[in-house]
Amino acid sequence: MNLCRQLWKYLVIAVILYATVFLNLDRIRTFSSEPSAIQFINIPSNESSNHLFTAQFKDQNHTYQFLTLPKKTCTNNTKLQITILSTAGNFDIRQAIRDTWANPKNSMHVANNDVHISFIISAVENEFLSYALQKEIEKHDDLIVTSLYESYELLILKVHAILTYKQHYCASADFQIKADDDMAVDMDGLFEGIGDKKLASVDAISGIIWKNSPPVREKKHRWYVPMTLYSQKFFPPYIDGPIYLIGKNAVPRMLEEAKNYNQWVIEDVFWTGVIAKALKIKQINWASHLLRYVIELIPTRLKCSKGKPLIYAVHNMKGPIMIHDGYKKLKGVKCE
Ligand SMILES: *[C@@H]1O[C@H](CO)[C@@H](O)[C@H](O)[C@H]1NC(C)=O
Ligand SMILES: *[C@@H]1O[C@H](CO)[C@@H](O)[C@H](O)[C@H]1NC(C)=O
Ligand SMILES: *[C@@H]1O[C@H](CO)[C@@H](O)[C@H](O)[C@H]1NC(C)=O
Repeated sequence: MNLCRQLWKYLVIAVILYATVFLNLDRIRTFSSEPSAIQFINIPSNESSNHLFTAQFKDQNHTYQFLTLPKKTCTNNTKLQITILSTAGNFDIRQAIRDTWANPKNSMHVANNDVHISFIISAVENEFLSYALQKEIEKHDDLIVTSLYESYELLILKVHAILTYKQHYCASADFQIKADDDMAVDMDGLFEGIGDKKLASVDAISGIIWKNSPPVREKKHRWYVPMTLYSQKFFPPYIDGPIYLIGKNAVPRMLEEAKNYNQWVIEDVFWTGVIAKALKIKQINWASHLLRYVIELIPTRLKCSKGKPLIYAVHNMKGPIMIHDGYKKLKGVKCE
């Protein structure tokens, strides 16, 4: 009797699996007849610009295109543009961010478009993903899609695209934030923070400053830096990659200065260290406003200053559940 029940169970599972596979195959067939989604573009057709740009370095050039731009753009009252590095498949993470810190219901500054938030991804050849992305674009209108190839080694180009987008499509905003998609942010706390001249300037870069970091010289390491690229013992002071804020006057200067340097792999050292140093761009330390580790995120232990929570953001939120949890904890800080 027991055995019979077991067999039934397996039979049901087998039927479900078969149906799932079968239905998906059916979908593949339907999708294949559609034009490749690489071509999907959200850009008004009467625009003359083709949205082509070149990331120019001393040793190489990369031409790329913005394939999709949010229709809802910055306005003249947008003070802060936030661009979150994401990858095509990270639907759940983007949704968690939309549901928490990027949600207009949770932040009056997002609701007022004082803060304009977008995700930047690279287009994909995969038709399942492209179809889902197209739906996502129609629904949320917050994706910047580039033709850049997706890889860790080329993140430096994605940051180029972030700066270029800022310069060309959101020029009036005072600040640009580059953030990874594993952050939880107290949006209004951060927004009020950048109102303080000691914490943000249109000529500076703000974030957690790293000093005296030595380059990795092991060839196989992800962060390998050849002597021919950079021969000194320590990197110049640079800002931790997961979140940094760049003032609007610094953005065009950085894009221009990059042309004099060979292309690096380590995105934060390059843009916020090497290029910032060459331009003598001031770095402002946010070490007391950002948390790097989840373990530090205990609402009762987080400090306040002048009746406001000191911490704006926490890094290392691995996945949607942690983003929700981290956001809740950041918002749970009680100040007298
Ligand atoms: C052309 O673009 C302008 C501004 O981008 C817009 O206001 C206008 O409605 C567009 N016209 C058509 C026919 O799409
Ligand atoms: C990159 O493009 C610029 C401008 O067109 C050109 O002057 C330069 O030689 C190119 N550099 C390389 C490495 O191809
Ligand atoms: C925004 O500001 C720019 C430059 O000051 C101005 O040319 C433009 O007309 C403004 N746009 C709106 C919608 O106010």
